[in-house]
Amino acid sequence: MKDVVLSGIRSTGKLHLGNYFGALSKFVKMQEDYDCLYFIADLHALTTHPDASALHDNVKDIVAEYLAAGLDPEKATIFVQSDIPEIPELYLLLNMHVGIGELMRTASFKDKARKALGISRDGSDDEIEKDILGNESNSKRVNAGLLTYPTLMAVDILIQKAKYVPVGKDQEQHLELTRRFARRFNAFYGVDLFPEPTNFDFGGKPVKVPGLDGSGKMGKSEGNCIYLADDEKTLRKKVMRAVTDEGPKAPNSEMTEPVKNLFTLLELTSTPEIVTQFRDAYADCSIRYGDLKKQLAEDILKITLPIRERFLDIRSNDEYIAKVVREGAERARERAAKTLAEAREAMGIRRFW
Ligand code: TRP
Repeated sequence: MKDVVLSGIRSTGKLHLGNYFGALSKFVKMQEDYDCLYFIADLHALTTHPDASALHDNVKDIVAEYLAAGLDPEKATIFVQSDIPEIPELYLLLNMHVGIGELMRTASFKDKARKALGISRDGSDDEIEKDILGNESNSKRVNAGLLTYPTLMAVDILIQKAKYVPVGKDQEQHLELTRRFARRFNAFYGVDLFPEPTNFDFGGKPVKVPGLDGSGKMGKSEGNCIYLADDEKTLRKKVMRAVTDEGPKAPNSEMTEPVKNLFTLLELTSTPEIVTQFRDAYADCSIRYGDLKKQLAEDILKITLPIRERFLDIRSNDEYIAKVVREGAERARERAAKTLAEAREAMGIRRFW
């Protein structure tokens, strides 16, 4: 039997190059050798994006992008989280063994809670807690779904008994909590129900895909993204406008962060020969950033344009998208139902009539 791999993406907007190199391209590779489940975390999306009219479109966008990037529904199980009612049921049960304190101490919770309340300052945990408890109003509040986000994520993983969960560094803490909840449940009921999942190590250094604004990584909320579905003109324009500096003043000088970032993107998308050629040009001060950007746009387009074309094609085919997620849901539900039954049994929940 192949090891089970599971990962999910929240449906809060289109996928960008960071998602592609950080997650999607790895998902595609793994589907050859593992029993893979990839899903759209639309219930998680509701914790921050409760817009009912956008929900379905966002889910369809991501399914179409998954498929366009090379995920194959014959090889991997592709499904939508809200199609699996066993997930919310196990989430309720698992929450009985999760502490409010450990949830409140989770970094992602503190971030998102402060955002929800419009509090920007850093503060001690005590201050943050006071803010959260004291700053609610009719329009601003930290919903309980945000607090229990890690329980829901743990259930996504545990209900499929996944062994590997390929995720970025920002999700490590959630994975750590998942292991802790699994151990705790197993120990409390004296069962060996949930395996403890680990991140998947691809070897090599982890990729951090930088944005085009000179600092930090590419992120939906940063406005510095190249989207897989960007058209050619938009993409070229974005790359040509990327932040740089005034150019190297002396041979072999240290690169500034914006320039380093462009080279990182070039390394991800171009050939080693081209990278070396531009590195040499930087070292001897003959580099022209315009040329570098033109080359970079070319190389990015080679990756994204075929994905965009397939995306547009698939996205216009509602029936096909529906078929993929219907079949995915059937497979994912069968496994989820089995685990849920085992968990209920372990907890002593059974009908006595
Ligand atoms: N929290 C993840 C993110 O924001 C998405 C996610 C939800 C997930 N459930 C998961 C990832 C289960 C891996 C496994 O990126």
